[in-house]
Amino acid sequence: MSMLCRSAPIRSCAARLGLSLGVAGVARAAGVARQKHTLPDLSYDYGALEPHICAEIMQLHHSKHHATYVSNLNVTEEKYTEALAKGDVSLQVALQPALKFNGGGHLNHSIFWTNLSPSGGGEPQGALKDAIQRDFGSFQNLQQRMSAATVAVQGSGWGWLGYDTESGRLRIAACANQDPLQATTGLVPLLGIDVWEHAYYLQYKNVRPDYVKAIWNVINWENVSDRLKAAQKDQSLLCVAHRDQSLLCVAHRDQSLLCVAHRDQSLLCVAHRDQSLLCVAHRDQSLLCVAHRDQSLLCVAHRDQSLLCVAHRDQSLLCVFDEAQIQTRFPLKWSSYL
Ligand SMILES: *[C@@H]1O[C@H](CO)[C@@H](O)[C@H](O)[C@H]1NC(C)=O
Ligand SMILES: *[C@@H]1O[C@H](CO)[C@@H](O)[C@H](O)[C@H]1NC(C)=O
Ligand SMILES: *[C@@H]1O[C@H](CO)[C@@H](O)[C@H](O)[C@H]1NC(C)=O
Repeated sequence: MSMLCRSAPIRSCAARLGLSLGVAGVARAAGVARQKHTLPDLSYDYGALEPHICAEIMQLHHSKHHATYVSNLNVTEEKYTEALAKGDVSLQVALQPALKFNGGGHLNHSIFWTNLSPSGGGEPQGALKDAIQRDFGSFQNLQQRMSAATVAVQGSGWGWLGYDTESGRLRIAACANQDPLQATTGLVPLLGIDVWEHAYYLQYKNVRPDYVKAIWNVINWENVSDRLKAAQKDQSLLCVAHRDQSLLCVAHRDQSLLCVAHRDQSLLCVAHRDQSLLCVAHRDQSLLCVAHRDQSLLCVAHRDQSLLCVAHRDQSLLCVFDEAQIQTRFPLKWSSYL
């Protein structure tokens, strides 16, 4: 029972620390040397997206525009590191816009290239298709709404399909400013359409709607699906580590359940993916916990089943029975939990 009671203070501690590191974030916090950024290779030729996007655009866009973001990002980061080392705060502040612009450009384009494919187009499948249907009614609706939002971006910018980790829903966002999507809106970018003129002018001149219409023919839906999967996985779990790492916490994003594991792994947490059933077990298996998703009922059982506890969530009722009594009292329910 103590295990279940402990979740409340941990939850507020996590909020107070403001820590929301992903699993990778924990590794990062452990100290990994910073690396210079490089221009990613394309997995297709510059001419492979023709006739929808011509080779000349692709070549300039990748080898000139994107490359410039990357080298300026490298240079700016170097200056920024120096400014940090010198404690020069005003230089740090002065470098922010360049970091934002070049970092944003590098991030955006790195996503964009993988969002496109010569064998793209058609309609998304699987979980992505279902999510689009749920959040936009149909794929055609998504296309229409995203096209309209993207065409309407004033000046330079991007249209995005993003994943909102708070609500678990897909959302369209169109951004004209310089901030990368996630930093500004909290949306995880899944699909980006670049509508800076360098992305289409050579072929489509000023007719942005034609370019946006054509780009659907080369969208790599598998990549968008992968990104959705990754966003859901990353964000459904939060990990928080106390400074000394003696305590690790794992929480479902919607905070319906918190599990706590001591570093020595004396306690392990396991959650079923569909979240209908959540289980927590001490490593020595002397204690097993089973909780229903609606949390109306929480159960804890010693392995040897000599002692079983059943508690209502509001803790208005807490009962302890030996096994014989449980069998009598909750014959059906209990067996379905274990
Ligand atoms: C920085 O960016 C450029 C891209 O223009 C890249 O070629 C280079 O390898 C990067 N790294 C360094 C150390 O400059
Ligand atoms: C990157 O994407 C964001 C979000 O759409 C946008 O505001 C920003 O202008 C983009 N940056 C660059 C340099 O393309
Ligand atoms: C989508 O992009 C991600 C990130 O670059 C990559 O890991 C993944 O393999 C891509 N998936 C497809 C199907 O292109």
